[in-house]
Amino acid sequence: MLDLKSYLFDKRQQIDAALHRIIETAPQPKARIVEAMRYALMSGGKRLRPILCLAACETVGGNSEQALPVACALEMIHTYSLIHDDLPAMDDDCIRRGRPTCHIAFDEATAILAGDALLTLAFETLSSRDIRKKVPAEHWLDVISVISIASGYKGMVEGQMRDMLAELQGSLLLSELEALHLLKTGALIEASVCSGALLGLGSFDQIASLKEYSKNIGLAFQVTDDILNVEGDPLIMGKGAGTDRHRCKSTYPSLLGLSESKETASRLIAHAIESLAQFDHKADPLRAIAVYIINRNR
Ligand code: IPE
Ligand code: IPE
Ligand code: MG
Ligand code: MG
Repeated sequence: MLDLKSYLFDKRQQIDAALHRIIETAPQPKARIVEAMRYALMSGGKRLRPILCLAACETVGGNSEQALPVACALEMIHTYSLIHDDLPAMDDDCIRRGRPTCHIAFDEATAILAGDALLTLAFETLSSRDIRKKVPAEHWLDVISVISIASGYKGMVEGQMRDMLAELQGSLLLSELEALHLLKTGALIEASVCSGALLGLGSFDQIASLKEYSKNIGLAFQVTDDILNVEGDPLIMGKGAGTDRHRCKSTYPSLLGLSESKETASRLIAHAIESLAQFDHKADPLRAIAVYIINRNR
């Protein structure tokens, strides 16, 4: 029987150590830009995307050590997206991961640049000579392609754009909100799972099932984020609550109410778990993470 708590703890430690090694080997670790990157990156995030990448790699029988640089790159991209998401021009939030947001702790220009630097460092990490030796180049290129498409204007950035436009536009239709969530949050989660499976040399069939799994958990993750924004404890979440309502965002609770939003999230998670039917116990971490996604309090 899988002990999810210790599984997540071990993986988080492995990822944190790898991120630490990367950031501390910067040519000038005390430079202001590196201080801001470190501040945002090494600040106790859940590391869900990198964990999903490692777990998906193991699910298809791969060695997750080889996926560690990809896991780090995903966390860098995610952290950059949070820094920019919190900026005054976007959600204008002042607390993230239990401390002042990057633009409050430093300044806006530094926060913008720290986001830019983390995004580019992700692709530097993905293409470093060291890791290219261990896995055939064509797999790395597939991974880089999947992650860049998911992060950019066909994925997360488009989702963020729609999120910003929706603030001006008023209430969205549920179908529009679903599409927005699948882009702003789902795309990177899907890329996390698929890149891990690609590096683990998963078959076409395995990757198709994992894609289905990841689409469902990605949407459920953002629905739960919307729910936590209504009823979560800011001290536990390490970020503000009630902010979506304050900014008149369209969210699952604003369109469906809390209890129907929770039912939707549960349905998505049940579907995600069904998509893993072809896998044996190696997929148990992915099954347990799916349940954790809707039961979390941060
Ligand atoms: C928050 O992501 C932003 C969303 C996409 C909903 P997480 O809840 O994974 O944040 P951290 O990484 O644990 O801080
Ligand atoms: C964040 O979405 C999505 C990205 C950073 C891409 P939200 O704005 O809903 O997330 P929180 O609540 O600030 O973490
Ligand atoms: Mg936002
Ligand atoms: Mg936000």
